[in-house]
Formats: sequence, structure tokens, C-alpha cells
Amino acid sequence: MIMDEFKAEHRQCDSLYAEAERAVVGGDIERAEKLFGQFVEETVSHMEHEELRVFSRLEAEEQAGLDPIRFEHMQIRALLEKMQQLLAVGDFSTFLGWGESFMILMQQHNMKEEQLLYPLCDRLMAEDAEKDGIEIEGCCLRP
Ligand SMILES: [Fe+2]
Ligand SMILES: [Fe+2]
Repeated sequence: MIMDEFKAEHRQCDSLYAEAERAVVGGDIERAEKLFGQFVEETVSHMEHEELRVFSRLEAEEQAGLDPIRFEHMQIRALLEKMQQLLAVGDFSTFLGWGESFMILMQQHNMKEEQLLYPLCDRLMAEDAEKDGIEIEGCCLRP
């Protein structure tokens, strides 16, 4: 299920960011850079998978309202780059300020995906599977 897989990735990214933020606040910059680097890597890979597997399936579905979600992915990528630069030059207070806005954007974004996009995608994929008569999760569906 898209919902279970991608929702778990949201939680994993959230906790990586929280750890990175704690390291910045605690002054452990080496650890903060490592954790934030991991956070960026996982967030970017998560978005790439969404674009490939979720957005591509929902492209033709007007009700999905993909345009604002795609735009948010652009904003997220730009913010991640900006925050990585801030961390690299040691501007920690600006980093933490941007971090607050970033997390608000992420929470709203993830909520839209979890409440609308993933359930819709799971439903459409189950319908596709039913039409094709393929086996999903041990249950053989036929047309
Ligand atoms: Fe997303
Ligand atoms: Fe997501």
C-alpha cells in the first residue's frame, strides 16, 4: 500500500529533522551536518518516488489537484538547498528560523498527501489491479 509505505517515510524524515535540529541547538555541528545531510537525502528520494509512483498515476485525475503539490516539491527542494548552505556557513539562528517555516510547509504538505493523494492512489491502483486480474497481497483479483 502506498499509504503505509509513504506515511512511514514521512515519519522517518520528521524524526531525522528533529534530531538534526536538536544537534544544532545543542551545538554539536558535526552531528547536525551529518543528520541534516541524511534528512535531505531521504526527503529528496521520498519526493522522487512520489513523483514516479504516485503523481504519475494521478496525472489524469483532476480531483487529485496535483499542481499545488508539485509546486510544493519545488519549494521544498529550494528550502533544503538554502538550509544546507546556512548550516555550511555556520548561520545557525537563520537555519533554525527557516527550519520553523520549513516544518510548517512540510506538515501541511504531508497532511494533503496522507488525506487525499495516497488514499486516492491506493484506490485507483486496486481498481487497476482488479481490471488486469492480477494478484495483490495474496488475494487473486479477476476481471
Ligand atoms: Fe510530497
Ligand atoms: Fe510525501
